Amino acid sequence: MKILLVEDSRTSVLMVESLLKEDPDEDYQLVVAGSVEAAKARLVDDDFELILLDLTLPDSSGLATLDSILAVSKGTGIVVLTSTTDEKVGLAALQHGAQDFLIKDETYRKVLLRAVKYARQRAISEREVREAKELAEFATRSKSSFIANLSHELRTPLNAVIGFSELLLEGVVGELKGKQREYTEDIHKSGQYLHGLIGTVLDISKIEADRLELHDGKVNMHSLIDDVVERISGAYRNDKIVYVKQIEDSMPDVRADQTMMAQIVTNLVTNAVKYSPGGGTVTVEAKINGGGDMILRISDQGIGIPKDDLVKVMQPFERTEVCKEHHIDGTGLGLPLTKGLVEAHGGTLEIDSDIGVGTTVTVHLPPDRLSM
Ligand SMILES: Nc1ncnc2c1ncn2[C@@H]1O[C@H](COP(=O)(O)OP(=O)(O)OP(=O)(O)O)[C@@H](O)[C@H]1O
Ligand SMILES: [Mg+2]
Repeated sequence: MKILLVEDSRTSVLMVESLLKEDPDEDYQLVVAGSVEAAKARLVDDDFELILLDLTLPDSSGLATLDSILAVSKGTGIVVLTSTTDEKVGLAALQHGAQDFLIKDETYRKVLLRAVKYARQRAISEREVREAKELAEFATRSKSSFIANLSHELRTPLNAVIGFSELLLEGVVGELKGKQREYTEDIHKSGQYLHGLIGTVLDISKIEADRLELHDGKVNMHSLIDDVVERISGAYRNDKIVYVKQIEDSMPDVRADQTMMAQIVTNLVTNAVKYSPGGGTVTVEAKINGGGDMILRISDQGIGIPKDDLVKVMQPFERTEVCKEHHIDGTGLGLPLTKGLVEAHGGTLEIDSDIGVGTTVTVHLPPDRLSM
């Protein structure tokens, strides 16, 4: 095991050397540097498994020594060696990123070997975790960029399908009759459905790849909610649903991406209506809570989500058995997309639901979204 000992006192170096020799299980190769500058030079040329660092050196002292070495240590574990008097410095060193600290008192002899082994093991575990995380992030980025490219490639021919079927329906090349019209309408409708689906998948992959761009502006929640509710009640024309809007009069404008906010409210109100096949009240509430957060809450009295499914429905393409039993159509993308859009604004989304009782979705936006 290759160790860099950064220490200027000859006696301390000899002591560490003799302690390491007492270990029958391991062969240690000790490289000594007497100053921060010497240590830096060593670290550039060579890789070590552990650094033993005395904080008081000719060219640096205290935590500044640790910071200088951390900056060039390439993730190698560091055990700080301190004199008896500065235990506080040792604790601060841990907060700065040292693996461990040892006080050079009478117990030093007993603990050094163990500390060296533990520190190396911890450094190895940390490196493995870091590498696994990097690998997972790389995989997510590759997947997202694959989806982004694929979606783009699919959209181009799809625009032709939608555009030409539209021209046919308009009778540009002659009036369509009977089945001709019916089939062309199907082509057009399916094309538009696919176009919407591809757009949603693209948005989700952008969120996953951290590539979503927000265009912040002033969003008036009163008019946004009015518009969405009007559009959805018009589209569903379900007279069994009673819409209730509770928006605080003093509700200030929100600094957010207008299109995304509309998408958030649309997806949640659509779910509330869609999953209330027996009718009931759909309530849209917007207010500022005591902590200065904006709360947007959409609740319904519909079929509900089983408690065990509350985590699952946040994953793309996941739907409950209950909604399939009711033959309610859907793709399973609305909620994960909505959650991603809320989080892109620094907010959170929570669902509370019970089967047969109804569902409440609560969105929090932080106070900084209320100042322009
Ligand atoms: N208000 C609700 N009441 C009951 N179940 C709900 C509600 N909102 C969501 N769900 C359940 O969560 C699942 C996921 O919702 P999500 O909005 O992501 O997809 P979807 O509505 O099926 O399809 P779409 O992509 O068109 O929105 C739904 O399929 C449904 O099972
Ligand atoms: Mg939905």
